[in-house]
Amino acid sequence: MAAPTDPRGTADTRFSLSQAEIPTAWFNVAPHLTSPLDPPLHPATREPVGPDDLAPLFAAELIGQEMSADPWIDIPGEVLDVLRLWRPTPLIRARRLEAALQTTARIYFKDESVSPAGSHKPNSAVPQAFYNAREGIRRLSTETGAGQWGTALAFACAQYDLECAVYMVRKSFEQKPYRKVIMETWGASVVPSPIDDPDNAGSLGAAISDAVRDAGGRDDTHYALGSVLNHVLLHQTVIGLEAQQQLAQAGETRPDVVIAPCGGGSNLGGIALPFLPDPTVRLLAAEPASCPTLTQGTYEYDFGDTAGLTPLMNMYTLGHDFMPPGIHAGGLRYHGDSPIISKLVHEGRMEAVAHRQRTVFEANVLFARVEGKLPAPEAGHGIASVIAEANDATAKGEERVILFNYCGHGLLDLSAYEDHLAGSLPEEP
Ligand SMILES: Cc1ncc(COP(=O)(O)O)c(C=O)c1O
Repeated sequence: MAAPTDPRGTADTRFSLSQAEIPTAWFNVAPHLTSPLDPPLHPATREPVGPDDLAPLFAAELIGQEMSADPWIDIPGEVLDVLRLWRPTPLIRARRLEAALQTTARIYFKDESVSPAGSHKPNSAVPQAFYNAREGIRRLSTETGAGQWGTALAFACAQYDLECAVYMVRKSFEQKPYRKVIMETWGASVVPSPIDDPDNAGSLGAAISDAVRDAGGRDDTHYALGSVLNHVLLHQTVIGLEAQQQLAQAGETRPDVVIAPCGGGSNLGGIALPFLPDPTVRLLAAEPASCPTLTQGTYEYDFGDTAGLTPLMNMYTLGHDFMPPGIHAGGLRYHGDSPIISKLVHEGRMEAVAHRQRTVFEANVLFARVEGKLPAPEAGHGIASVIAEANDATAKGEERVILFNYCGHGLLDLSAYEDHLAGSLPEEP
C-alpha cells in the first residue's frame, strides 16, 4: 500500500465541531439590513398583514420570529435535541476539486447532505414542527418541489408526533418516485399537485396553493413553508454560524465569497446571512437559467403562490403564474424569492448568476469524480458558480477563499444523472 503523502495531516480536509459547539441561538439579519423589510400585504385588502392575519396558518412563535428585530433568537432545547442527530455538519476543504481545477483559490463547503433527509431542509422543518406541536396543532400541510422539503418535514413531524400532508409538484412526483417512499416511511401522506389538474406538470407556486387551501380548511392543521419567509432563513443560519467557527479552525480569517444555490433563498440565507455584517465578504446566489428570478425577474409585490391565496411580498418575481420548465432541480423552480435575499440583490449587496442545466450536471459529475459526493441538481448550481469563481481567481493569480453550501445529495436524483450520462438531458427543457 502506498504511504500517505501527508502523514502529519497538514492537508486536512475536514473541520468538525463537537456537539457542545452547536449554535444555541439563531442569527437574525433584520437589524443588519439597511432599512426594515417592506411589509407583506393582505391578498384581499392589500393592507399590511398583522399577526392575526397569519394565525390561521402559522404558530404564534413563528409569526413572532417572522417580524422580530431581536439580533439573536434562542433555539429551544427540544429543537437542539433533534438537530444534534446530525449537527454540527462538517466543513470540508475541497482539495481534490482545487487540484482538478489547478486553482489558486481555496474551496470549502458545508456538508448539509449529512442530515437524515439528505439536505439543509430539516434545519427549519424541526423548529417549525416543534412550535406547532407545542401550540397544540396536530397536523401540518406543505408543498414540496424536489421532494427535499417534504422529506424534511415528514421527518420532523415524526419527531413530534404530528401528521404531515405533502403536496408534491407533479413533475418531481414522477421524476423521483422514491421520495414518496421516504416520506411515507416517516408517516406522511403524499399527493401530486396540482390536485385538480392531472395533466399539469405543476410548480411550487401551485403546490403552495394546494397546501394553504388544506390548512385553511381545517382547525387542527397549520401550513409549513420550506423557504422564502424570514423565519425559515433564520432557522438556516446555523449553517453559516458553524462555518464561521470551522473556517477559523482551518486558519482562515474570512471567506472572500460565499456561494449557494437559490430557489426560495433558505440555504443561501442560512450560509450567507451571518457574513452580511462584514462588507468585504461577497455573497453570491446561483439560480437556473430556466427560472431566472433574481437575474431576470422584476422587483415588486407579488403573491407567493399561483392562486393568489398568500400575502403579497416585495420580492424578485417572474409573475405568480409563471410555469417553469420541468428541469431536474425541482427545488429551484419557484417564481419568487425570499424578500430578504431580494432586498440584498436589489441593493447590490448580493450578486446573482444563472446556469444552464447541462453546465450544472457537468459541474456535478466533476465534483462527484474528485470529491466523491453525488450532488443534488440544486447543489450543482452552486458548484458551477464555485468553478467559475475558482477559474477567475486563478486567471487573476488570487488566493480567493470560496465557501459554498453543499445543500443536498443527489442519491434520489439518479434518473437525471442517467439522462445526463446518456447525453439525453436537454440543455433547457
Ligand atoms: C437540495 C436543495 N437545495 C436547494 C433548494 C432550494 O431551496 P432554497 O433556495 O430555499 O434553499 C432545494 C429546494 O427544495 C433543495 O432541495
